[in-house]
Amino acid sequence: MSSTQLTSVADLPAVEDFITFDDFSRDFVEAARELRGREGTDFLRGPMNSLVVLRNKDARTLAANPALGNVPADIVLWMATEADLGSGPVTKPDPEQTEGYGRFLQNQVFTTNPPLHQPYRNLLVRQLMPRNILRFAPAAARLAQELVEECAGRDRTDFSREFAGRFVTRFWAEQLGLSSNQAAHVQHLMEEMSLTFLLTRTPEQSQRLFSAATIYMDVVGEAVQKAWSDGGNALLDDMAAELATIDMEGKPQDIGSLVASNFFDGFHTIGVAIENVVFRMLSDETAPEQVRADPALVTNAFYEGTRLDSPLMLSQRLTLQDVEYNGVLVPAGTPVVMMWASANRDPEVFDDPDSYRLTRPIQHGATFGGGAHLCPGRNVARMLTETAVTALTAPDVDIALAGDDHAWAAHTMMRQLTALPVTIRRVNR
Ligand code: HEM
Repeated sequence: MSSTQLTSVADLPAVEDFITFDDFSRDFVEAARELRGREGTDFLRGPMNSLVVLRNKDARTLAANPALGNVPADIVLWMATEADLGSGPVTKPDPEQTEGYGRFLQNQVFTTNPPLHQPYRNLLVRQLMPRNILRFAPAAARLAQELVEECAGRDRTDFSREFAGRFVTRFWAEQLGLSSNQAAHVQHLMEEMSLTFLLTRTPEQSQRLFSAATIYMDVVGEAVQKAWSDGGNALLDDMAAELATIDMEGKPQDIGSLVASNFFDGFHTIGVAIENVVFRMLSDETAPEQVRADPALVTNAFYEGTRLDSPLMLSQRLTLQDVEYNGVLVPAGTPVVMMWASANRDPEVFDDPDSYRLTRPIQHGATFGGGAHLCPGRNVARMLTETAVTALTAPDVDIALAGDDHAWAAHTMMRQLTALPVTIRRVNR
């Protein structure tokens, strides 16, 4: 196609021609369903002349295009502190306040581009490949058992805090050399840092986010640094040795910053995945019994639960050069909003996409993104979720939803329930 026939992103229909920004960001799953149902919405113009990608095949094809890089840390920081998304005047925070948050972003693979991206990313990929995470499986199973025991002693369990969040923070604390007190502290900090996923924040919320990020970077960074210098932690030894072989500008200064910045999704997002998978399974009449009868179905529960309620509903990329795709010219420097949650409910790929089917064939999911940026944490996320679900569906355990009033947090990129009360009991079957 010649460039004269191309439509530039600036000339695409805008999201706001169909729904208000407020409705778009209130619930991205609902908004995407509404948009996919309208004519001419394959590609839309989003805030700041971004390209919004809704369909499974487009998300997968574009994710694999090397010209779609990561958004560099200074731009993410600018977006988080100064960008005006239409919620009124923006007060630029004092640089001292955002120093820790800036450090958090700066050291992430998520904000890195070539040439550093590949070697830095590989460091995580290698540690978290299926063969290597097997060494963590016994610790995960023990911690899940301990938590079932703790929760079975209570009338009601706040599943998010008292099971999922506790499980993942205790797990990573153990692997990364943090004490149990530090694990509890990090779990609290995760609740504050989840403000990072809000589309817009009040100055008070921004203040809480920045201060939690600074404390988090210091607490985790220092604990990891100490655990590494004390010796005897194979995971930290391997990562530090590989970090030393990377001779490029922009790499983290030490193993403490590397771990704190990149394992945030371990401490936080895996907990959300466990919550969503358990919520969907318990909301289905027959799924808990099916999984209990056939433990191989925990894998289906993981894929179907995270497909329907993908924890990270969207992420942004940035075009590193001009890209032409399906008649659209995406100029270099355009933010691309990859709507993973929408791709996961695309009717072209998934039959009756909004329904929960435990035995649905596993195919073309977008929960963990794609291409050269496919999430390095996906295997460990699956291992931890399956371990938790296995423990919760053991023959002598009964778990049920307590109440039927469930709501998704609004105006956030994270698909997360506002609360998930459950009952967990020991039973004789
Ligand atoms: C259920 C939990 C998780 C979900 C839903 C999730 C989701 C995602 C998604 C959607 C992407 C974007 C990929 C893209 O742009 O194509 C991504 C990238 C990434 N994730 Fe995860 N993630 C999870 C857990 C983890 C964990 C545990 C880690 C590390 C310990 C991790 C580290 C990363 C990194 C470093 C990237 C950037 C990769 C790159 O740019 O090359 N994630 N993740």
